[in-house]
Amino acid sequence: WERHTQTVSDNQLIVVSNRQPYRHTETESGIEVERPTGGLTEGLDPAMRELGGTWVAWGDGDADDAVVDSNDRVLVPPEEDAYTLRRIWLSDEDVDRYYYGLSNRVLWPLCHSFPGKIEYRGSDWDRYKQINEEFANAVIAEASDDPVVWFHDYHLALAPSLVRAQLDTQATLQHFWHIPWPVWDVYRVVPNSHTLLRGLLGNDRIGFHVHRYCQNFLSCVDAAIPEANVDWERQCIRYQGRAITVESIPMGVPVEDIQAEVTSEDARAQAAEFEADHAIPDEARVAIGVDRLDYTKGIPERLDALAHFFDANPEWRGKLTYVQNASESRSRIPAYREVQETVTDAVSEINEQYGTDDWTPVVYTTKRLSRQKLLGLYNEADVAIVSPIRDGLNLVAQEFIAAQTSNDAALLLSSNAGAHDLLGQHALTIDPHDTRQFSSTIETALCMSPHDRRQRMGDLRGIVAQNDLQQWVDSQLDVLRASRQVRPE
Ligand code: F6P
Repeated sequence: WERHTQTVSDNQLIVVSNRQPYRHTETESGIEVERPTGGLTEGLDPAMRELGGTWVAWGDGDADDAVVDSNDRVLVPPEEDAYTLRRIWLSDEDVDRYYYGLSNRVLWPLCHSFPGKIEYRGSDWDRYKQINEEFANAVIAEASDDPVVWFHDYHLALAPSLVRAQLDTQATLQHFWHIPWPVWDVYRVVPNSHTLLRGLLGNDRIGFHVHRYCQNFLSCVDAAIPEANVDWERQCIRYQGRAITVESIPMGVPVEDIQAEVTSEDARAQAAEFEADHAIPDEARVAIGVDRLDYTKGIPERLDALAHFFDANPEWRGKLTYVQNASESRSRIPAYREVQETVTDAVSEINEQYGTDDWTPVVYTTKRLSRQKLLGLYNEADVAIVSPIRDGLNLVAQEFIAAQTSNDAALLLSSNAGAHDLLGQHALTIDPHDTRQFSSTIETALCMSPHDRRQRMGDLRGIVAQNDLQQWVDSQLDVLRASRQVRPE
């Protein structure tokens, strides 16, 4: 407890997100602890372990309630007890309305500028408000001296103003919005859009991955909230006697960790095992795509471009294998089930049309691949294809780059991914809807001179190393670090 007491008496850090960094599940051998995958939770856990504090999140493991104290808290990670995880419990109906409903049938398509996919139900809005209140109440209950509260993502847009109303001005509230922010003309279509903005204006700082999303957010505040004053030059909003800073800082990946893991024997062996299991010919070049099965990721469009590529370039049949790892996601929502079916059908069609007895053009797997295997495959691949229709940032592009050791690989990157603002100059840009251009860029990647390929990858690696995860966390927690006179042992 000494560590925690000391942390609390400095400035206390409270992280708030929908997903949790650890979940407890019941197995035959007792309760086991898992680390769910996800850029956000994996990225923030090391900072929490260093700084201590409290993380408030939805407890979605089947044995989470068996390990908490009477205040729904447990110390994590096991053995280390570095920080407190406080669980929020959600009923099936809460999950249906707050998570699948308002968060993923309204805010997700809205922010990715897919207004046609929005399915708004008033009762989902009511439940979203109620669950945001529950998160806010947990934060208020946990808060002691001058906390720094760091909210994440679109599930929690209303919580900041609720916390602000209860905590005095010494609290620092900040929010990182991990998905795009749309232009005003798109944003305005959703009911309660003003209330969502007012909820976020409870923060002192709001972060986005790229400058464009900041500008879009400021335009929405300017148009929708008459009492807010936008200072465009300083990227700041004056509202209710406070100044709210809006800043762009793209999230990074843990470059040194990836480099250490990718050079391990295990990563190499696992990648080789995958290639053998899927009968990928030794001499074939390999392209790879790794995505959640989401309609924003542009997987059907990518498969169209590949079919066009094999059609237009018969000399590449048998010589290029495309590996697509697509993890099932949010399947309770019809739009997600539709994209799953479309992708399965498109893969079968390509394999039937172009495949031979000893070559499968598209190796498709929905299995969760271990981190070692994934990094090993990135290192082995000649090309990565990251072609979302729209994406807040896309960490796969950066992981692929960080996993290169010889620079002998190319990245195809959609101009609609936030990551393009960071990496676009040295990647091969594609437009996911332009099948012919997409297909000819696959050919460019494969036929590029080794010198050009190495030069581009070397530049990309420089950018990714300079913007790694550590510097993202540091820049977001500078308020906290600056205020710490004595760091916990
Ligand atoms: O990109 C936004 C985000 O919420 C990430 O933070 C998260 O890793 C991803 O979407 C997965 O979403 P979900 O929690 O719905 O599985």
